[in-house]
Amino acid sequence: VRIYVPCDTSAVACGADRVAERIESEARLRGFDVAIVRNGSRGTCWLEPLVEVETANGRIGFGPIDADEVPALFDAGFPGACSHPSAVGRVEDIDWLRNQQRICFARNGITDPLDLDDYRAHGGWKGLERALAMVPPDIVQAITESGLRGRGGAAFPCGIKWKTVADQLAARKFIVCNADEGDSGTFSDRMLMEGDPYRLIEGMLIAALAVGASQGYVYLRSEYPVAHRILGEAIQRARAAGWLGADVQGSGRTFDIDLRLGAGAYICGEETSLLESLEGRRGQVRYKPPLPAIKGLFGQPTVVNNVITLASVPDILVNGGAWYRDLGTGRSRGTLPIQLAGNIRRGGLIEVAFGVTLRELLYDYGGGSASGRPIRAVQVGGPLGAYLPESQFDTPIDYEAFAAIDALLGHGGIVVFDDTIDMAEQARFAMEFCAIESCGKCTPCRIGSTRGVEVIDRIRKGVARDANTDLLRSLCDTMLHGSLCALGGLTPLPVLSALRHFPADFARDL
Ligand code: NAI
Ligand code: SF4
Repeated sequence: VRIYVPCDTSAVACGADRVAERIESEARLRGFDVAIVRNGSRGTCWLEPLVEVETANGRIGFGPIDADEVPALFDAGFPGACSHPSAVGRVEDIDWLRNQQRICFARNGITDPLDLDDYRAHGGWKGLERALAMVPPDIVQAITESGLRGRGGAAFPCGIKWKTVADQLAARKFIVCNADEGDSGTFSDRMLMEGDPYRLIEGMLIAALAVGASQGYVYLRSEYPVAHRILGEAIQRARAAGWLGADVQGSGRTFDIDLRLGAGAYICGEETSLLESLEGRRGQVRYKPPLPAIKGLFGQPTVVNNVITLASVPDILVNGGAWYRDLGTGRSRGTLPIQLAGNIRRGGLIEVAFGVTLRELLYDYGGGSASGRPIRAVQVGGPLGAYLPESQFDTPIDYEAFAAIDALLGHGGIVVFDDTIDMAEQARFAMEFCAIESCGKCTPCRIGSTRGVEVIDRIRKGVARDANTDLLRSLCDTMLHGSLCALGGLTPLPVLSALRHFPADFARDL
């Protein structure tokens, strides 16, 4: 019997390793012949560790399972027909999963992340094979036609970026994958790398074919040791199987990938700091122009794309740009893997087409707050994203709709707060985060964020509240317009949204 226990960080954090060991020992004790597969996560964090058993009727799930519950699970019939209270039935029939439109995450939780045969059996390498049969401009055209925009947060059209790099005449070009996923409440990059790493490798290979690059780098945050192990192993296995290195699958094309670890700086998720760090220097923001697409890593034309952007590419090649573009709304095409975190009953990864509303995500998928109290605010797009009140929960997930309410979608992370949250404290946290993570290159961010913390402290203590509130707005204006990059430039978003939507929290004396 094949039994699946996720090796994903979120499942391991909930005890999946111990559950896997316990199932193995218990099965041995009771004379069952079981093969344990450490799959990726389905993104159902609320069910982790989610144990699945392969049956003639599909995969039957049990979750969340505690290691100490395993003997009782066997007593109830596991791994055969089992009446244990944690049984959730056929996993693919769970509404939470069935209602999603999974493209990037179609294989997550289903396959063994490192098994190349499993990858092939579930549609792997098809996009690359299609790309190998195309001329580079047609690959770029397919991506342009798909409407795919950068999933790291800036939502720049991927096809235009690739065309800019493809059009450069240079001896060397690079593909850099930004896997420095530092935003609070985000984990889609990690889940993808842990659950379906060959998809990222395939996306990077296609990007390389499109623009004429011979070397790729994945810049991975050091806080992701499991992703580091799995992706590192996947790169080695792909290389041994001829998917990476000289003469990829006999095509005459050369492309290899190096996996590099960051050192814990949020700013290294900004593309030019990331390039500095990759080159061995301190992660500090570069002036733009020149754009990395023209003069990037080691001064050469470089595609810098986020994990999810690159992971979206293989399916676009298989099914065509128009297929992808048909999903979504307005100028936001395709799907977005949304990450639901914080005070929420059913948190996890939800990949759906753009256009779903925040309210649907929070209540239909999320099931409301974990505490059972009313949801008062959500922060979308990481620590630089705006705080949205209940009156804005009908906003669709759409880059332009978010921009219209002075918010951003960012990398698709949603952090939920109930009515016990103090929004003035959250505004302070935003400024403090900026002060701690500032690279120090420009004054509005380096000095402004520290002054911002002080001003918010004075407001909260009731010291010249009106004058200090005016000062805070003015400081935010300076940071917004005078900062060199998005860290200083967007920190005003959470601060001003807290002030605008939750003024009472700033009027309460500490
Ligand atoms: P940007 O808008 O300057 O550039 C976006 C991307 O497009 C970059 O890779 C840039 O090099 C490229 N690009 C721009 N013009 C181009 C052209 N003509 N040809 C080829 N490539 C071109 O944004 P940046 O500075 O990379 O990031 C800032 C944005 O990131 C913010 O507006 C914000 O929305 C988002 N952000 C998201 C966060 C998150 O939640 N993940 C956190 C911080 C910022
Ligand atoms: Fe550095 Fe902050 Fe200026 Fe960005 S805004 S360049 S992080 S000092």
